[in-house]
Amino acid sequence: MKKAVILGVTGQIGSHFADFLLDKGLEVYGVVRRVSSPNYKNIEPLLDNPNFYIEEGDITDLSSLIEIFTSVKPDYIINQAAQSHVGTSFKEPLHTITTTGLGAINIFEAARICCPHTRIYHASTSELFSGLEYPQNENTKLEPKSPYGIAKLLAHEGARIYNESYGMFICTGICFNMEGPRRGIEFVTQKIVDAVVRQVCGEDIVLELGNMEAKRDWQHAKDAVEAQWLMLNQDTPQTYVIASGETHSIFEFVNIVYAHFGIDVIWMEKNGYPVGYDTDGKVLVKSVDKYYRANEVNVLLGDATKARKELNWRPKYNFEMLVNDMIESKLIEYTKGG
Ligand code: GDD
Repeated sequence: MKKAVILGVTGQIGSHFADFLLDKGLEVYGVVRRVSSPNYKNIEPLLDNPNFYIEEGDITDLSSLIEIFTSVKPDYIINQAAQSHVGTSFKEPLHTITTTGLGAINIFEAARICCPHTRIYHASTSELFSGLEYPQNENTKLEPKSPYGIAKLLAHEGARIYNESYGMFICTGICFNMEGPRRGIEFVTQKIVDAVVRQVCGEDIVLELGNMEAKRDWQHAKDAVEAQWLMLNQDTPQTYVIASGETHSIFEFVNIVYAHFGIDVIWMEKNGYPVGYDTDGKVLVKSVDKYYRANEVNVLLGDATKARKELNWRPKYNFEMLVNDMIESKLIEYTKGG
């Protein structure tokens, strides 16, 4: 039985990866950081699975990684652990660089010491790009605009250097935004879906957002996991852009989610910020200063031609299916028990 260690297993992508590998018949070792209130929501259904094991460790602690890799002897290491919120990285730059950047180097270093032949997946990101030129592919200039982007650039280049210097197998996915029902509420798609469903269910709340003009290439998390697995099983460790090839603004996303419930949003400007009203003049959504970032990647639009050709990767979800999946899951969550 092949074994995989997943760093960041409680997160959206880590937990989908665990499901995926268990379905493929692998033994999965999920690394979990000790916190006073553990959040096992995404992996709750796996806790009774005889092929799923929890290991306590932290990517900022090299010795914990060495211990896990030495005892498990994994065939695969999947790195999905990070401080992954771009907005937060402006407030906690050093913490972000330590976890997201140096944490990845710790993983490569621990693997070099304990299991240099293990295949490693490293989660890179479209936040490496400036957003000034698009569509973006593997040859687009890397020019991050946030502390998160710098941290990911360190890790991205680290992967290349460990491959070149030690002949390791670290493949890298430059993944564009990955969404779905397990997406954390602090990310914009889930924040919008959550608020709109609450409003539709009768809660008297206003959805507060930041910059709604930014455009993102949103894809389903499950599609991205499939591409990552295909990358791990190539002859050589490569870098691939993984994206849907469509881009939509935050405005569009908001309008689409309201439209799902037959609600037309009427947009106006108040004190320089957009405000969205329903047809009775009630405020549904508004843009507020506190959610704007100090800097922003304005347009993300991925060109995944290489992945489609070399990995024969074909996403199963289009944009509409992704949005519907998120809305349906949220409706089930909020209407459970009536
Ligand atoms: N989170 C958030 N909250 N974003 C908002 C809000 C808000 O209230 N209002 C507007 N936005 C805008 C952000 O400014 C950004 O332009 C866009 O919505 C998407 O924000 P996020 O959903 O937080 O994702 P992200 O694009 O910053 O980063 C995600 O994708 C990257 C890949 O491109 C994260 O998953 C990163 O970890 C990932 O690397």
